[in-house]
Amino acid sequence: MQEVKVLDKRFRMYIPEDQLQKRIAQMAEEINRDQKGKDVIFIGILNGVFLFAADLFRRINLDARISFLKLASYEGTSSTGKIKELIGWNEDITGKTVIVIEDIVDTGNTLERIVGELALRKAAEVKIATLLFKPEAYRKDVSIDYIGFEIPNDFVVGYGLDYDGYGRNLDSIYTLIQ
Ligand code: IMP
Repeated sequence: MQEVKVLDKRFRMYIPEDQLQKRIAQMAEEINRDQKGKDVIFIGILNGVFLFAADLFRRINLDARISFLKLASYEGTSSTGKIKELIGWNEDITGKTVIVIEDIVDTGNTLERIVGELALRKAAEVKIATLLFKPEAYRKDVSIDYIGFEIPNDFVVGYGLDYDGYGRNLDSIYTLIQ
């Protein structure tokens, strides 16, 4: 589908499924190479990350665990800047290498909050992997280790990402038609 409608808005095809899958396979290879021999825990940030986390993690060949945290700072199509509650801490990460998996890094508020919590919980090393990154919107200093695609500062849906809860089941990434 070249164009889709989600609720009241129209979106056009931006990153097709085969390109997503190809890039995710490359990211997994890079992580496998860099983290070889380490006991790694992946922490996915819900909800948007669930498809990316599944496709990335199934290609990881390290002795690795995965867990998920939930936190949302978004309502509608523009960031409210509000950070909601962070729930789901049930792993001991003391002394571990943690790889945070995000669907998209926009302003970086969410990421900064999570990296702060991981430091408090004494992770030995924290790496960040995100499928999408909006460099023009990013306002933080946390460095991002693995980036799938850099994209312009436009609103996207699909492959886990939503517009007001809908659009997550699209298998490609679509961008808002202004
Ligand atoms: P940040 O805290 O501003 O970096 O925003 C991160 C979160 O905002 C992501 O995990 C998404 O849930 C959401 N988000 C940011 N940009 C988009 C977008 O273009 N489409 C859908 N959700 C987005």
